[in-house]
Amino acid sequence: MPHKFDYLIIGSGIAGLSYATKLARYYGEKNQAVRIGVITKVQADETNTKYAQGGIAGVWSPDDTFEKHIDDTMVAGDFLSDRHIVEIVVREAPERIQELIDYGTRFDKEADGDYDLAKEGGHSDKRILHFKDVTGAEIERALLSEVARHSSIEVFTHYFAVDLITRHHLGETVHRYDSNNECFGAYVLDTNTGQVDRFLARTTMVATGGIGQVYTNTTNPVIATGDGIAMTYRAKGICKDMEFIQFHPTALYEPGKKPNFLISEAVRGFGGILKNIKGETFMENYDPRLSLAPRDIVARAIDSEMKKSGSQHVYIDVTHLDYEKFVEHFPNITAYCKDRLGIDIRKDFIPVVPAQHYMCGGVRVDEFGRTNLHHLYAVGECACTGLHGANRLASNSLLEAIVFGHRAYEKSIEAFEQTSVRDDIPAWNDSGTTHPEELVLVTEIKRELEAIMSNYVGIVRSNRRLKRAMDRLELLHIEHEELYRQSKVSVPISELRNMIEVAYLVIKAAMARRDNRGLHFNIDNVK
Ligand code: FAD
Ligand code: SIN
Repeated sequence: MPHKFDYLIIGSGIAGLSYATKLARYYGEKNQAVRIGVITKVQADETNTKYAQGGIAGVWSPDDTFEKHIDDTMVAGDFLSDRHIVEIVVREAPERIQELIDYGTRFDKEADGDYDLAKEGGHSDKRILHFKDVTGAEIERALLSEVARHSSIEVFTHYFAVDLITRHHLGETVHRYDSNNECFGAYVLDTNTGQVDRFLARTTMVATGGIGQVYTNTTNPVIATGDGIAMTYRAKGICKDMEFIQFHPTALYEPGKKPNFLISEAVRGFGGILKNIKGETFMENYDPRLSLAPRDIVARAIDSEMKKSGSQHVYIDVTHLDYEKFVEHFPNITAYCKDRLGIDIRKDFIPVVPAQHYMCGGVRVDEFGRTNLHHLYAVGECACTGLHGANRLASNSLLEAIVFGHRAYEKSIEAFEQTSVRDDIPAWNDSGTTHPEELVLVTEIKRELEAIMSNYVGIVRSNRRLKRAMDRLELLHIEHEELYRQSKVSVPISELRNMIEVAYLVIKAAMARRDNRGLHFNIDNVK
């Protein structure tokens, strides 16, 4: 028997949980019984959200203004951001952040009781609320405890969404730009039993986070395989801005470690200085904002310094900073450097390297998180709202997720009466498939995929590299599709299918862009 919900949410990060808690509160206050299902592919808190360090941006201090935050977002996005969306997000930020506080999220305060606002690259003022250097874990904790208060929310851990259910599953042919496409829920794999069930819903939300695992070096945890973007694209959703992959300039250099541990941008905001392998400052040669220029600029500068010297990393120097204050603000980073690499930040520089960090593009949505499929929303990192343009401003991601979680909630409760759960959706059909005898092919294809994306679709691109990437990817796609068709569905095989799909979208978008904007830099576009 299929599971039936009023709202089905795929993902338990900040985007999915903030939407779920809003729905539960609303219907709870009305005494209306609803069923809200949240599915998540491992344990509930294993999300990109949990690893967020720096914090969440919002105009909070009386010296700061919405206009400054709007301008900073537009500048960082290389003026490809949608100004209307930027204005919405920046102006709604304080109210949404206050809600996180009301749910019990703690942010650090100064001695006088005001919030301790930090600064990060591209911000013209101090406006980042944070909890030490583990802000995401604190937000995730608070949201999960709020979720636990609502009996209307059921969290399915270790459930993996394989595909969205659309009119196509009713035997109809639907094209990408048809206006009558609809989503009825998802086929979901119970990873404990290996069974695929129908999770049917009036309204479905994709909140599946980023794509980092497509690259060799990434700050993203293993769950970040682009599932929601790939699923939605297969369901004939529209994706946008996929060429804009953000590389965080300063992941800790730890060869062979995946994911890479992050050295927060807030460390540079606190006074940390970038130095090359010879211990010399270099940002003055690239941008007047020095170590606090927007990420695309800093990552390219580091890439260029590494290429010039043949080194594998550069450094952040924090030796001149007040040690006690540094430890108070960055206890996790200090401990990680010491315990894992024996780095004593009082006298040693921290070795850092750029690593894939964030997907600025994703499933195209409107100002309420609605996709081009009826009853399907996408929110958080998997969505492209237009906020980030060609490059996301630091700490605007957690913010975007709560603003759009709220806006999607408003529209979905309005639409409740016009939606229903379909009863005629066919069960998952896996006749003719078998359990693959060995998964070595999957491991190998994944390794090749990561190498292709890292070598040819990284910080600096060229027409030749992109063409080579697309040619190689096509071969991987053919090999993997054959395996997928013959195999019983499993997480590794499905994730790889999604990663190949997402890689295709990134390369295609990068090949199509003829100018260098923000995070997309192609040497053949330099006039
Ligand atoms: P996530 O938090 O990634 O949640 C995705 C959820 O989807 C998970 O529950 C996952 O299990 C689930 N899922 C995925 N696929 C499936 C599937 N097929 N089936 C079932 N479930 C699925 N941003 C900031 O604004 N400020 C910061 O300080 C900051 N620091 C960061 C530091 C690090 C190390 C990283 C990696 C990112 C940071 N970011 C930061 C970015 C930010 O954390 C993320 O963009 C944001 O948390 C994404 O939230 P989300 O809810 O969209 O997705
Ligand atoms: C960081 O702490 O540097 C990450 C902030 C972000 O990704 O917005």
